Amino acid sequence: AEHVRSKLDGSSLFVVSNREPYVHNWQGNTITVTVPASGLVTAIEPILCACNGTWVAQGSGSADAETVDNHDRLQVPPDDPKYTLRRVWLSAAEEEGYYYGFANEGLWPLCHMAHTRPTFRASDWEFYNAVNERFADALVEEMAGERDPVVLIQDYHFALLPRMIKDRIPHARVAIFWHIPWPNPESFSICPWQRELLDGLLGADLIGFHVQAHCNNFLSTVDRVLEARVDWEHFSVKRNDHWSSVLPFPISVELTEDSSGLPLDHSFEEERSAIIGELGIDATFLGVGVDRVDYTKGIIERFQAVESFLERHPRYQGKFTFIQIGAPTRSNIPRYAEFQREVESEATRINDRFKRGKWRPIVFLNRQHSHKEVRRYYRAAHVCMVTSLHDGMNLVAKEYVAARSDDRGVLILSRFTGAARELRDALIVNPYDIQGTGQAIARALEMDVTEIVDRMRRMRKMVKEHNIYWWAASLIGELCELRLKR
Ligand code: G6P
Repeated sequence: AEHVRSKLDGSSLFVVSNREPYVHNWQGNTITVTVPASGLVTAIEPILCACNGTWVAQGSGSADAETVDNHDRLQVPPDDPKYTLRRVWLSAAEEEGYYYGFANEGLWPLCHMAHTRPTFRASDWEFYNAVNERFADALVEEMAGERDPVVLIQDYHFALLPRMIKDRIPHARVAIFWHIPWPNPESFSICPWQRELLDGLLGADLIGFHVQAHCNNFLSTVDRVLEARVDWEHFSVKRNDHWSSVLPFPISVELTEDSSGLPLDHSFEEERSAIIGELGIDATFLGVGVDRVDYTKGIIERFQAVESFLERHPRYQGKFTFIQIGAPTRSNIPRYAEFQREVESEATRINDRFKRGKWRPIVFLNRQHSHKEVRRYYRAAHVCMVTSLHDGMNLVAKEYVAARSDDRGVLILSRFTGAARELRDALIVNPYDIQGTGQAIARALEMDVTEIVDRMRRMRKMVKEHNIYWWAASLIGELCELRLKR
């Protein structure tokens, strides 16, 4: 955290993301606060706390016309204020066009190879432009009088924002971090507004992705589509006399010796029995998965891998239960509503096929859980399964590792996640290969304890050294140095 502050060297930090870190619900005079299910939010929060900057995000939760004015700038975290949260309130039409439409029915499936067809509507595109402008207005207002502001824009909701900010405040140092994959140029060209998106992004001084492969796809796309000079040696692009660097910064989590959230003498076995008791099931071995119920996450493939595992290793029938924590997400979008039903019915089908007595193979906990609740499941599970069909990084993989201060637990990890490039000691699987993924479950449960410990220790070392502060310090450090070079 100290390192991040020193990189900033007195400059003020402004972070922009669509999702806000706390959802405040006012009911009369009482407020309840919840934390949304988003890896991005979890990752960014400790940085703002360390740098007491300003976070600009979309206001959510209850807000009627009278209360909005009072609540558009807050000090958070609510219990222990450390930084400013500036909220931009969107109308229902803006939310529909910009967030549900362009960002999540257009760009999200465009950038993930998960076989859901992107939908591009001209009206959504209009709203995407307008909402990017509204965030630019809010940022410019927040940055008033700042001599050397550093702006970190988050994600695919704001491709147009870097240029908008640079046009209005040329001395701002601007980075955008793209938290999802970038596809190859042919795939990207499906988007009717690809030139505008690329031009907006290239307003930034620094464009970050999780892994080099996404940087390369981005550079190839620019090379094909725009009049710009791509320098493949320095991974940068020159357009209208302005250079943008395009570099990888793998995002991470916080790992401290007590990030399991438990006293050291606590027994992980006790936790397991407690959870089994609460769920009212009979089981000896537990697996866990934690996701938003999103079609990119490979949840159905994962259930089928559990099925295949139980078929091929019948001695685990009656013994192994897979717990899927699935937070509802983006449910206004038809494809998400449909996917939610598919996940439920696949769990029911597999349970009906195998269940006996108090045992069943799959428990689907279909609600949002707090970080604290999720950590209990991480600690209780012999194996954690991350089987995304495509994922920028996937922080569940790293959170599982961070929670295992007992050096136990096996991670099964899809090769199509950014995390698979770093967590080499996971059992790496192809989620499209159902049998292969099922075999990985057997391998995990039968792995001998010295191998489990060795693998987990190496993964913990990796996450500890390359934690979220390291990510922020590298990104901010690079951004500040870039300016000096010019
Ligand atoms: C992904 C995106 C984030 C987003 C999160 C949750 O991780 O990269 O930007 O916040 O999903 O999705 P939601 O649409 O609920 O914000």
